[in-house]
Amino acid sequence: MATHLPPQTAPANAEPGATPYGTLPPASPMASRKPISLPRLLEMHGRGEKITMLTAYDATFAAVADDAGVECILVGDSLGMVCQGLHSTVGVSLEHMRYHTESVSRGIRRAQGTAWMIADLPFGTYQESREQAFRSAAVLMHAGAHMIKLEGGGWTTEVVRFLVERGIPVCAHLGLTPQTVHALGGYRVQGKSDASAELLAREAHALQDAGASMLVLEMVPAQLSAKLTRELQHCATIGIGAGKGTAGQVLVLHDMLGVNLGKCPKFVRNFMEGSDSIRQAMQAYVAAVKDGSFPVDALHAW
Ligand code: KIV
Repeated sequence: MATHLPPQTAPANAEPGATPYGTLPPASPMASRKPISLPRLLEMHGRGEKITMLTAYDATFAAVADDAGVECILVGDSLGMVCQGLHSTVGVSLEHMRYHTESVSRGIRRAQGTAWMIADLPFGTYQESREQAFRSAAVLMHAGAHMIKLEGGGWTTEVVRFLVERGIPVCAHLGLTPQTVHALGGYRVQGKSDASAELLAREAHALQDAGASMLVLEMVPAQLSAKLTRELQHCATIGIGAGKGTAGQVLVLHDMLGVNLGKCPKFVRNFMEGSDSIRQAMQAYVAAVKDGSFPVDALHAW
């Protein structure tokens, strides 16, 4: 016997066009803001306007971050720790990165977002050869990334050159490089001694010369990162625990929203404090980076 379900009617208080589960609206034909491009980011660096970056791993948070004015969204392999509960980023695969990059890209596009989107090449997908790096980068570019990020100096220079020559914008990453945490002996400040500072500076210049147009500096003494920022005119430095003198700042989304369940690193500020919503917390982050009130070297740097 056929059963008849009652007709589906919208609840009396539903807004017209409302969708369930926080679904993003379909994009209309024209974005209202100009998309962030690489030349625009380098122009900002040139005139000293701070660049804002946050990580995001899914469509909705990416769309909200974009709407809050965050210029760059990084699909970081930190997703291994904050989404998957791993102890480090080492276990993240290219397939994990592809999935999250696609989700973030869809979220930004459907919300008519304008952010510049960077995706991390995970451990084991670029160390073997330049060709392996290109194939891995292509997967993330197909998934919607505008730029890829990879960790390390020295041997990475030739990889960066190979990718850039083939049309893939590259963000390098020096200082504390979490994929090599076991070799580094923990999450420690890098570049503290004269010799390690000199090496880091040499690697940063080589990466710029190879075509890297952004460089994340993680847990690097504030003085060293400020000096590198002044020297590297074609490569915008983005600091995390590297002081206020970098061209821009990045934080892991969960950290800046105060949902880090472990011990929060000293370079983090919880922007939910004093904010009524996640959107407001992100806006407060953008405002604080732009006006130079975050980070404070005495509190958040070494
Ligand atoms: O994976 C990540 O989120 C990162 C940032 C901490 C820069 O690399």
